[in-house]
Amino acid sequence: RRFNVAVVGATGAVGETMLNILAERDFPIGTLHALASERSAGGTVEYKGEKIAVQDLATFDPKGVDIALFSAGGSVSKEYAPKFAAAGAVVIDNSSAFRYDDDVPLVVSEVNPEALKDRPRGIVANPNCSTMQMLVALGPIHRQYGIERINVATYQSVSGGGRSALEELGKQTGQLLNFQEIDPQRFPVQIAFNLIPHIDDFQDNGFTKEEMKLVWETQKILGDASIKVNPTAVRVPVFYGHSEAVAIETREKITVEAARELLSRSPGVEVVDERKAGGYPTPVTHASGNDAVYVGRIREDFSHPRGLNLWIVSDNIRKGAALNAVQLAELVAAEQG
Ligand code: A2P
Repeated sequence: RRFNVAVVGATGAVGETMLNILAERDFPIGTLHALASERSAGGTVEYKGEKIAVQDLATFDPKGVDIALFSAGGSVSKEYAPKFAAAGAVVIDNSSAFRYDDDVPLVVSEVNPEALKDRPRGIVANPNCSTMQMLVALGPIHRQYGIERINVATYQSVSGGGRSALEELGKQTGQLLNFQEIDPQRFPVQIAFNLIPHIDDFQDNGFTKEEMKLVWETQKILGDASIKVNPTAVRVPVFYGHSEAVAIETREKITVEAARELLSRSPGVEVVDERKAGGYPTPVTHASGNDAVYVGRIREDFSHPRGLNLWIVSDNIRKGAALNAVQLAELVAAEQG
């Protein structure tokens, strides 16, 4: 069976990658609709080497769409996802609009695929990029050893902020190297040759929303509200690929050898952990443009009897967004095929 697929936000950084990944994995598409705002309607995007016309979401009729992949921001999802679902589509939504609703499953394809089946509103939420890559690695450890607490500091690339954020890093880098003035627009302060401990809005508790996503989403996806998460989220001047310094405390001790062995046979994970120069993953050398979640620098925490440190790196636009969305579409297709 073939599926009529709509990509909402098809001209964006994630939408473009969704189209590439649908093509790479040869998703069984009947008709493909590329949707964006009125601004880009009339233009084209590429799919399998062909040009597809971009249509205006506001005037598009969703009747006949089987699967809709949304990545056009929270307010667009809030308004249009229910309309697509009402017209019969399964919506896979990359925004945070529905992630914390009890009747919307939040799914990492390797970690809790079973949650996808129960979707009374016809909407499935794709997790935040930082939570996604962390849980691909930590899910298997939690199941076997029981994670009690997670300390995480993220090093997040600018692509998570979309095309305008990619452009701002490029532009500022060029300007600064040419001794020109910069004028931050997309980020609150200079991002080139700097880093910024502030992603998404500040909350009343002093954490940012990006940090709280790591708390709320970890508990929901692992189905365990007792897991403690202590997050710091930082934007760094990297184009593609998020990195995370993660320190976990488990109920049962996990050794370095056991962690390497478990992770090396966990789906979606690649262990890159040689204790020598270059023997660890980085955004540029491993993650960017690739599908896996790379884990290295595995060490037992000598300050805690059951602590383990890991360095987790992945392409935030691929596994952190577009790839997981397509994997969820594949699970939906398998149900209905
Ligand atoms: P457009 O290119 O027409 O603005 P990014 O995250 O890279 O900035 O991309 C955001 C995506 O969401 C783009 O495809 C953008 O389309 C789309 N988008 C933004 N606002 C709307 C809207 N109001 N209606 C439809 N698509 C939108």
